[in-house]
Amino acid sequence: MSAAPHAAAAPDRATSLPPGPPWPMVVQTFLFGGYRHRWLPTLRRRYGDAVLLRIAPRSRRMVLLARPEHIREVFSGSSTTFHAGEGNAILGPLMGPHSVLLLDEDDHLKVRRQLMPAFNGAALRGYRDLVAGITREQVGGWPVGRHAPIHPRMQAITLEVILRVVFGVTDRARLAALRPLVERVVSVSPLIMVAGFYPPLRNYGPWRRHLEVQERMDDLLYAEIAERRTADSLADRHDVLSRLLTTPESSLTDEELRDQLVTLLLAGHETTATGLAWAFHELARNPAVLASAQRVADERDDAYLGAVAKEALRLHPVIYETARVLTEPAEVAGYRLPAGVTVMPVIGLVHSDEEHHPRPREFRPERFLDPDPPSSHTWFPFGGGVRRCLGAGFSLMESEVILREVLTRFDVRAGTSRPEALKARNVTLAPRRGARVMLTPRRPGRRLR
Ligand code: HEM
Repeated sequence: MSAAPHAAAAPDRATSLPPGPPWPMVVQTFLFGGYRHRWLPTLRRRYGDAVLLRIAPRSRRMVLLARPEHIREVFSGSSTTFHAGEGNAILGPLMGPHSVLLLDEDDHLKVRRQLMPAFNGAALRGYRDLVAGITREQVGGWPVGRHAPIHPRMQAITLEVILRVVFGVTDRARLAALRPLVERVVSVSPLIMVAGFYPPLRNYGPWRRHLEVQERMDDLLYAEIAERRTADSLADRHDVLSRLLTTPESSLTDEELRDQLVTLLLAGHETTATGLAWAFHELARNPAVLASAQRVADERDDAYLGAVAKEALRLHPVIYETARVLTEPAEVAGYRLPAGVTVMPVIGLVHSDEEHHPRPREFRPERFLDPDPPSSHTWFPFGGGVRRCLGAGFSLMESEVILREVLTRFDVRAGTSRPEALKARNVTLAPRRGARVMLTPRRPGRRLR
């Protein structure tokens, strides 16, 4: 063979990028940060199934993916090529460099293995009564007979649950001080999060105030860690902190422990609360589904309630996309993408695609009870592969129990049939007005038990 064909073949191995909007990076960052749920579907229609964006900081190249077969290439790809930890860099200033979300390869696997026992099937069964008890305690104080946002009520329950799962029974005064600080840290705006990439900003206004709150939260966490290190009978305790301190071969530093605790506190409550807020929002707008859900709640049949939680996450994915940074060139979606590019499986685009979910705008939990339910390739609110959400099972269990406890007690009505708009809160997409619904106590005759 002559040298010429070889020379011609070289460009084939060269890297290539999909098309994307030509707009300035600042505009693209703004639209992506605040309006991705509206902008990304438009981009897909205009540019196709893979789209290139340029996003701050450092004008990163991001490739959006909308087809399950392309997303599978990412989730089943090598964890040395597809770095999720690097893809989550925006969370670094909040969660810390040792967080399971920020690590990659062997370091990631090691920490993930240490955390997993707290979220396996046996552990989940143990948490059901805890969730039911906390929900019952809280529903007594809820406003009834008038429209009010249900999102804050869900946040209060899920925060209490995750505090108990992470710390177990502990110093009440410290927990009381920790609660509002975690709430403030978790409601950080995307703008404050981006400031993590621009250190000089940290000395000013809202950024400085945010750091002060974070420091106060850290002081309390370090105090709890110090006390627990000297506590007796840790082996009899099942909370995450005690488990991490007693795991064989684990000798985590205080900083490493702090980062995992913050990760679980932040990743483990706002997400579930938001999914539940959307679930109640949809139940209130769909009386026939509400009636079915109340009937199964009375009958203690959790399968349908699980389907309600899943369908809420399909229709309103709390996290719209996941990210992996390429450490070397890789074939994805028919392109040979260069190292340094971030690939983004866009959960929201797949979940709203009619090809995978017939009548995608309808809230229809039954689709998860069909003989042929959505697969893990077309329904993946918890991401995928070796980075799939560690709390997925926990979150679904928690949602079923909370739905059951609330639906056996209350009727839920919407103020308007129109869906509530979205608001980007940190990395989650929440109902803008907190999912306003009216709760009224159910009449005894209408309850089965
Ligand atoms: C509706 C609720 C939740 C949603 C929608 C959600 C979603 C996600 C997503 C999309 C990821 C990234 C997966 C990927 O990159 O492929 C993730 C990771 C993670 N989530 Fe969740 N999550 C939820 C609840 C929870 C809960 C309750 C916990 C803990 C109790 C939790 C802990 C984590 C952790 C530790 C990771 C990092 C896993 C790793 O990198 O190995 N999440 N979650």
